[in-house]
Amino acid sequence: MSGRFIALEGVDGSGKSTQAGLLADALEAAGRTVLRTREPGGTPVGELIRDVVLAAPSLSMTLLAEVHLFAASRAEHVRAVLRPALAGGAWVVSDRFVDSSLAFQGAGRGLGIDAVWELNRSAVDGCLPDLAVVIDVPGPLAAARRKPAPDRIEAEGEGFHARVAEGYRELAGRFPERVRLVDGRGTPDEVHARVRDAVAVLA
Ligand code: TYD
Repeated sequence: MSGRFIALEGVDGSGKSTQAGLLADALEAAGRTVLRTREPGGTPVGELIRDVVLAAPSLSMTLLAEVHLFAASRAEHVRAVLRPALAGGAWVVSDRFVDSSLAFQGAGRGLGIDAVWELNRSAVDGCLPDLAVVIDVPGPLAAARRKPAPDRIEAEGEGFHARVAEGYRELAGRFPERVRLVDGRGTPDEVHARVRDAVAVLA
């Protein structure tokens, strides 16, 4: 028995958490066993790491510490939650996974996608999403959808968010089997229909 692993990805304000919820509900309604989870987080250690890495912008942190904290959360998530769930046949819907590190730390922060992949290789240990669905929205729309009290990463400027968006587009170009862009404009239901189309290949 082997489940499916779907990650929802996108810039801050893309609406991917809404889409993760709608997708999880739809899969459950279709009779799947669904595990909804998130990164950073998804385990007790991961949630503690989340509090540190997504603290208020006043907490300064070196880039290398940031990238390793996300990877540490991921190492725990893969071993304690994702692998066991997938082995049990669950459909896992994760709000973010390694492509977030590739886009945010690799492209956004400028560490480079390949360098961030190398830093994440042992954390991921071959447990990659069957499909990463990137909710792709124009910069001004994402900015308008972002929450008013930003964390360390949301508080970055528009140039950062634009590089993250470009990073996701590069990932979709480099790994077309595994990373799919979905147009995030329109109502939640309209976007959900596009997400369902994208994940239909996994059935
Ligand atoms: P997000 O998933 O957007 O949660 P919320 O909707 O509650 O704000 O927040 C996670 C933030 O962490 C987001 O800004 C992206 C960032 N992030 C990285 O920079 N790298 C990573 O590897 C992950 C998983 C997240």
